[in-house]
Amino acid sequence: MDLMEVLRERIKIINREIDEFLRVKEPEKLYDATRYLPLSGGKRLRPLLVSLSTEVLGEDWKKSIPFGIAIELMHNFTLVHDDIMDRSPLRRNIETTHVKFGEETAIIAGDLLFAKSYEALHKLDVNKDAFRRLNLLLTKCIEEICEGQYMDMDFEKREDVTEEEYIKMIEKKTAALFSCSAEGGAIIGGGNDEEIKALSMYGKSLGLGFQIWDDYLDLKGEEKEFGKRIGNDIREGKKTLMIIHAVARADEKEKRLILSILGKKDAKDEEIKEVIEVLDNLGSLSYAKEKAMKYAREAKEFLRVLPENDARRCLEELVDYAISRRR
Ligand code: IPE
Ligand code: IPE
Ligand code: MG
Ligand code: MG
Ligand code: MG
Repeated sequence: MDLMEVLRERIKIINREIDEFLRVKEPEKLYDATRYLPLSGGKRLRPLLVSLSTEVLGEDWKKSIPFGIAIELMHNFTLVHDDIMDRSPLRRNIETTHVKFGEETAIIAGDLLFAKSYEALHKLDVNKDAFRRLNLLLTKCIEEICEGQYMDMDFEKREDVTEEEYIKMIEKKTAALFSCSAEGGAIIGGGNDEEIKALSMYGKSLGLGFQIWDDYLDLKGEEKEFGKRIGNDIREGKKTLMIIHAVARADEKEKRLILSILGKKDAKDEEIKEVIEVLDNLGSLSYAKEKAMKYAREAKEFLRVLPENDARRCLEELVDYAISRRR
C-alpha cells in the first residue's frame, strides 16, 4: 500500500464529507466564509492519521471518518483564528479568511467551525463509553491548544525563552492535536491500553517534529509551494527553536542584528534574508533539522508494539513526510 495512493483516495472521501457537512445555509456570507478555508485543499494529515490509527488495529478505517472530520474542522478553526493573531496574509496559497472576509466575519466563521467539529462527533457509530472518551479527549486537546497559542503569543514579548519552554509550547499548540488524532483513531479501532498509549505518544512526537520542520519552512520554504508567507515568524517576533539556539550562540554584533529585525512587522525581504544567513552560520538551521529528526525517530519507536501491517508502514512513512515536506 503506497502512502500517496492512500492519501489521494482517503482525502477525496474526506473532502466530500466536509463539503456536504458544511452545506450553505443562511446567512449565506457566513457560510461562504466558514467553508472558505476547509475547502481550500489542506493536506488532511490529521484525518489521515486518525484513519491509519484505526486501521492499524484491524478495524475498518471508515468507522473513524466522523472523528477525522471533527479533528480537521477543529484544526481549520484554529488556523482561522491563528491567522488573525499572527497577521498572516496567506495560507494554502490563497488570502487568509480574515483578509478576504474581514476580521469580524473570520472570528465568527472560526466559532462556527468549532461548533461544527463537535456536531461531527455525533455521527460516530461507537458505544456510549467510547463516545464519552472521544468527546473528552477532543475537549482536553482544545484546552491545550489554547494554552499553547497563548504561550506562543506571550513569547513574542520575551527575549529569554528557553528551548524547554519552546518545546512545551509546541507540544500544546501543535503536537496535542496530532496526539489526539492518533489516540482517537486507536480508541475507535478498539485498541488495548498499551496500543492506545503508544499511538498517543507516536502522535505527540510526530507533531513535535512536524512543528519544528514547519518553523524551518517558514524561513527556507518556497512561498508558492509552502502556501504561506515566508519570514512571517521573524516579522511577528516568534521564538522558534532556531531563534533561541542562535541568540544563545551569537556574538554581540550578530545578536544585535537578529533582535533588530525580529518582531519588525514591516521588515523587508532583504532583512529577513540577513537574519536567515546569521541563523545558518550559527548552525541553528541544522540544529532544528536534527531535532526534528530526533522526534521522528522517537515517533517510529512508539509504533513497535503495534501489529506489523500496511497501515503501520503508512504511519512510518507519514513521519518521514512530516519532516521532509515542502508544503
Ligand atoms: C498548519 O498545519 C499548522 C501547523 C501546525 C504548523 P498543516 O501544515 O497541517 O496545515 P494544512 O491543513 O495542510 O493546510
Ligand atoms: C500552528 O502555529 C498552531 C496552530 C495553528 C494552533 P503556527 O502559527 O506556526 O502555524 P502556521 O505557520 O500559521 O500554519
Ligand atoms: Mg501561530
Ligand atoms: Mg500562524
Ligand atoms: Mg508557522
